[in-house]
Amino acid sequence: MTNIEERAASLSEAQIAVHWREEEYISPGARFVGQANASDPAVYDRFGEANFPECFREYADLLDWDQYWHTTLDTSNPPFWKWFVGGKLNASYNCIDRHLATKSNKAAFIWAPEPEEDKTEVITYQELYRRVNEMAALLRDFCGLKPGDRVTLHMPMVPELPICMLACARLGVVHSEVFAGFSGTACGGRIADSGSRALITIDSYYRDGKLLDHKVKADEAVAVAHDHGVDIEKVLVWRRRPGEYLSAVPMQEGRDFFVDEVMKDYRRQEVAPVPMPAEAPLFLMYTSGTTGRPKGAQHSTGGYLSYVAGTSKYFLDIHPEDTYWCFADIGWITGHSYIVYGPLALGTTSVLYEGAPAYPDPGRPWRIAERLGVDIFHTAPTTIRMLRKLGPDEPAKHDYHFKLMCTVGEPIEPEVWRWYHEVVGKGEAVIVDTWWMTETGGFMGSTLPAVKPMKPGSCGPATLGVYPVIYDEDGKTVEPGSGRAGNICIRNPWPGIMQTVWGQPERFVQTYYARYCHDTSSKDWRDWPFLCGDGAVQAADGYYRILGRIDDVINVAGHRLGTKELESAVLTVPEVAEAAAVPVVDEVRGRVVEMYVALHPGRQASKEVEDKVKLAIETEIGKVARPKNVWIVPDMPKTRSGKIMRRVIASISNFTDVGDITTLANPDVVESIRRQVYQQKTERGEAPRELTPKELEEIRSFGHTD
Ligand code: WT7
Repeated sequence: MTNIEERAASLSEAQIAVHWREEEYISPGARFVGQANASDPAVYDRFGEANFPECFREYADLLDWDQYWHTTLDTSNPPFWKWFVGGKLNASYNCIDRHLATKSNKAAFIWAPEPEEDKTEVITYQELYRRVNEMAALLRDFCGLKPGDRVTLHMPMVPELPICMLACARLGVVHSEVFAGFSGTACGGRIADSGSRALITIDSYYRDGKLLDHKVKADEAVAVAHDHGVDIEKVLVWRRRPGEYLSAVPMQEGRDFFVDEVMKDYRRQEVAPVPMPAEAPLFLMYTSGTTGRPKGAQHSTGGYLSYVAGTSKYFLDIHPEDTYWCFADIGWITGHSYIVYGPLALGTTSVLYEGAPAYPDPGRPWRIAERLGVDIFHTAPTTIRMLRKLGPDEPAKHDYHFKLMCTVGEPIEPEVWRWYHEVVGKGEAVIVDTWWMTETGGFMGSTLPAVKPMKPGSCGPATLGVYPVIYDEDGKTVEPGSGRAGNICIRNPWPGIMQTVWGQPERFVQTYYARYCHDTSSKDWRDWPFLCGDGAVQAADGYYRILGRIDDVINVAGHRLGTKELESAVLTVPEVAEAAAVPVVDEVRGRVVEMYVALHPGRQASKEVEDKVKLAIETEIGKVARPKNVWIVPDMPKTRSGKIMRRVIASISNFTDVGDITTLANPDVVESIRRQVYQQKTERGEAPRELTPKELEEIRSFGHTD
């Protein structure tokens, strides 16, 4: 081994270099604090470790229980924790029926279709009650579904999606929504894994100005599930425009049914909500990508619903009279927790938008916000960067006022945070940066908005009743304020935690607990830290800065660089709108960094911009991180939930096959980036080099987003 390799090998994985600058605090305005659901710092004592697990009674008491529980937390079979044992409740009842007495004519959902000339649809709680009951009757009597059965939904952002979810919940049927942007093949794999007998889909939907044929994916999904040995008995097909069939593929006699036609037999039917044990699964949410067996995160009824209701109330500051818009897709966990279940449990109005953020122009979100009177706005850094890139001055032209804004999904660069705060939030809105993941059901890190000041780029302290720890590779605690990063874990169970990986309990234990549990026979939750899979650093004030997935690290000559801080450095260059760092295998230094950047509109790619990017990295991080190449590209390959697919550009940079790109929102950009990069690399005399199987695996899975 060379010296450098030895150094690299001796460095532990969690020792990610940390070069972030500490940012100044920003405090919420008095107007916000005055109306907030939680403004007394004493709430942190109520949720302190001394009061665990009973503190979570406060969340559970936000719900109506058919039968109150006798045991708050049962730890007898670690790490399969049971919350609110003995309790019974129905999620659909809690999200709908119990609001009817006081809010029957209040909007539960307001749906904005993508074509602007289409009518905005308002669904009151009364109407939601009617439609969910009818759908529940259809699922029970036409499809023969019983409590505990699974149903796969492959639905886009139309009101029929939450209606189906709530209809399943009413019956105790477990829903498994697969993000509509996923391919038929991906959907088929998830159908098979969950053992669903019914698939609910739609003929078509609008996205970015195009009407997409969606039913075609259902045929593919059913075929793939069949190959895996699982047969779908019924495919229920909604029609984007009832009465008109807008797909090119035929309906299959005896298998495919138009919901609007079958529904005629179920008009005005009512279905009593089935009281479900708190521990009954409410839904599955599949996490991993197109390779390997899919991983279905199983979420519970009582614990999950309590947790999303409580966190929606305190961290998103949702009051029933708010108009709340979470600009995410219900096909991922954010939408389940914070478009559907949390907001509806609190009886508020939740806005749904069908389409692409900047369609037909980047003023669209602000027109929706102004017209509907949105006062809480929730989105992801990728959307914020896109709107900043395409329409930096648009928010100022619209008369809306947000009291709170949320960012979620990846670390937000301080530059982008400041634009969000000053321009989108008009300097008035308080921001919560909520850190969590599919597995956790709800927020794990966030400032409590009226109690803790904001700090750009940091999510803040842990959420109420959550006690994290950062461990290094050897399981030693990394102290706050040490400036060192490590693997962030949660020491305790919380009600929103996933119950297991559907059908693979050993994988659940292996993935999340094997790393730091030293005594698998222990029945004490303190011996079972939950591995989140993110690198993090904790400042002396207790605020966490999330560096991204542990796998998103580039090791240059033994120096472990977090991709996010490289990208944040590059975003200080005024021309740059988006940046993504990837590793390139290098004979000498192990890995070197290549940087992909997209510029703000109207800015020209030039040698000068490339040099500025390199200089920004050198000054913010150091020479060691200086990128080998800077590729200025028209757009980044992204998943439909907006995350940059680093593995795709990493494959291009290493001259290897880009793998499956069917789940991309914009697969077309891949070929043009490939051509550009290959051509320039050839001109620079860089030749392909054969990668070892291990290197190939690292590159092909880099960034772990699928
Ligand atoms: C990963 C989980 C959270 C629901 C949507 C994504 C990253 C999420 C933040 C944040 C920094 C964040 C983490 C996490 N992440 N929120 N506020 N700051 N990073 O769910 O697809 O399961 O992804 O998203 O790396 O592990 P997911």
